[in-house]
Amino acid sequence: MEKLIINGGAKLHGEVDISGAKNAAVAILPAAIMVGEGTSIIENIPDIDDVHCLERIIEAIGGKIEKNGTTYSVDCTAELKVIADTEDVRKMRASYYLVGALLGRYKSAKVELPGGCAIGVRPMDQHIKGFEALGAKVTMDHGSISVNAEKLIGANIFFDVVSVGATINVMLAATLAEGQTVLENVAREPHVVDVANFLNTMGADIKGAGTDVIRINGVEKLHGCTYSVIPDQIEAGTYMIATAACGGRVTIKNIIPKHMESISAKLEEMGVLVEELDDSLIITSDPEKLIACNIKTSPYPGFPTDVQQPMSVLMSIAKGRSIINESIWESRFKHMDELKKMGASVLVEGRTAIIEGVSKLSGANVRATDLRAGAAMVIAGLIADGKTEISDIEHIYRGYPDIEKKFKALGADIYVENN
Ligand code: EPU
Repeated sequence: MEKLIINGGAKLHGEVDISGAKNAAVAILPAAIMVGEGTSIIENIPDIDDVHCLERIIEAIGGKIEKNGTTYSVDCTAELKVIADTEDVRKMRASYYLVGALLGRYKSAKVELPGGCAIGVRPMDQHIKGFEALGAKVTMDHGSISVNAEKLIGANIFFDVVSVGATINVMLAATLAEGQTVLENVAREPHVVDVANFLNTMGADIKGAGTDVIRINGVEKLHGCTYSVIPDQIEAGTYMIATAACGGRVTIKNIIPKHMESISAKLEEMGVLVEELDDSLIITSDPEKLIACNIKTSPYPGFPTDVQQPMSVLMSIAKGRSIINESIWESRFKHMDELKKMGASVLVEGRTAIIEGVSKLSGANVRATDLRAGAAMVIAGLIADGKTEISDIEHIYRGYPDIEKKFKALGADIYVENN
């Protein structure tokens, strides 16, 4: 079993290159299967387990993928199977994008219900509402979702909750529907915009992504293209917070600073210096001077839920009382028990966590209870006195490429141990 071992205490210095966005890549690869003729060349795909899982799923339904470093060529000219039922499909959340993509191209799909991180109830009612509005019959049975339509007709859909997954999934299907679809109260995350841009580069007609109304004029077919995935906002946020917590000075490279604003603003409030350049940020921090702050997670452009867990570690050593209100996922505080083992002072009540800053954390044996919890444990290990051993690190590899190499290059004492 692999473990991450960290000897804490080093300040971080240097530069870190941010990879392509996980949550864009895991939607763009399924979107590429909607192309019936031609090859999609997708650059800047992150080297993470969720992407590898998706590659296997696409190959299992008949697609061909060739890789050259972080560039993928996806060729789905062959007729694809509309049934996705392998173990990999059940393993990852983003396999639900196969439903929208196959429904768009074939008007039919049957997909095993997806897994992913255990961070709360993950309903699909808004996805289903959208597919039904486009004319599909949706049934859920024995752990799978089936969608079928004679044809898809554009419709007006007002989502009851702001959902990244439902916005993208219904946008995929509506791209190949007849007529116009208007989606209201949609998610505005950078990865939603990235998927819309990718679809448009393949010949779709989508306007408004990045605002709360998206208008889609259905097209008959899509063609291959060359496209580059945006940088990962969450990976960048994780390295920003790690630098703030450890102290030192790190340039976070290849990012879109605009996407980082909610995180930069909170770090500045806590006493961290954030300098903005064209496609990078320089973070300078003295952990002795960190002061408490409050956050409420919310959809973009609010503070991202995916950065809440790493942020809680920074709060655990900031002077004073910090309060987190987690408004997206009801079970996203599981890492707090692990953090407490390292000496943090945390009280969790429902969706609120109250953190009293302590002067230091101490190394312990902890678990990565989910993906971002794992990243939080890495940061906790980096700042703790002594040795931290993190188990269940497969969660971390679902979403962070080369995490130990990247931190080692910044001066951290971190390595993987097999036993
Ligand atoms: N929701 C519903 N009904 C639905 C769909 C969602 O009530 O049909 C609710 C959820 O229960 C949740 C909220 O709406 O309370 C937001 O869920 P959303 O659909 O936006 O989440 P998701 O698409 O399943 C993606 C990311 C998550 C990220 C959330 C929120 C991917 C593959 N996953 O999930 O990323 O936390 O958006 O930004 O894009 C991560 O990367 O660590 C991660 C968990």
